[in-house]
Amino acid sequence: MRRTLIAGNWKMHKNSETARGFARDFLKLYQTTPDLDVCIAAPFTELLALEEMFRGTDLFTAAQNMHFEDQGAFTGEISAPMLAEIGVDFVIVGHSERRAYFAETDETVNKKAKKAFEWNLTPIICCGETLAQREQGLERHIVRHQVVMALAGLTPEQVAKSVIAYEPIWAIGTGKVATPEVAEEMCRVIRTVIRTHHGDAADDVRILYGGSVKPDNAKELMDMEDIDGALVGGASLDPVDFLDIIHAAEN
Ligand code: 13P
Repeated sequence: MRRTLIAGNWKMHKNSETARGFARDFLKLYQTTPDLDVCIAAPFTELLALEEMFRGTDLFTAAQNMHFEDQGAFTGEISAPMLAEIGVDFVIVGHSERRAYFAETDETVNKKAKKAFEWNLTPIICCGETLAQREQGLERHIVRHQVVMALAGLTPEQVAKSVIAYEPIWAIGTGKVATPEVAEEMCRVIRTVIRTHHGDAADDVRILYGGSVKPDNAKELMDMEDIDGALVGGASLDPVDFLDIIHAAEN
């Protein structure tokens, strides 16, 4: 049985005041759910505050990126031990925005996934095709390649603990959500390629869908067999919308 994971990705939004405001409002309404994990990926500057406010709850925090070295002359970067020290649980790796704007490659994604496990952080590894790639019928090929590269060299236990987020780039921030059938088909492609390379660990990997997930489309996506949760961008900025998505995933 895979536990559902609903992860919010705030991207470069919220400051100290609005992040704390979100946490206060969210905590007033949130009720622990036995079969579901909830996590928020906040900007680095807000992670410690969220960690403190979530203490004593079952809520998790995530970073949106990290470097693959422990320390060094890498101006502007944050390392896995820095995140681990403040109690961060998950780290998003290889988001398409980082691949597109910050030169993230399949190789750095793989290095980061390995480094995350060294420090007991769970990587949420993102993959997904562009609209042009889909129009050329390349989506399966692209996503298989990204996933195989990202997981290369991980132990079966690490693969089993990993989280994969299928985020078609054409659905991110566009309001154009993938149909449940398209999302399921791609998540199944991902699970199948993981089985080919890593055997039964494929049964335990959590595969999330991301891309314009909203309260009104979350349930039909989460109902699909190979979709184990959601990576939510815009709708995670509002505590009520985010809670509605969590509730939709519970039912
Ligand atoms: P939206 O939910 O805003 O489309 O963003 C998806 C995403 O990129 C989450 O990582």
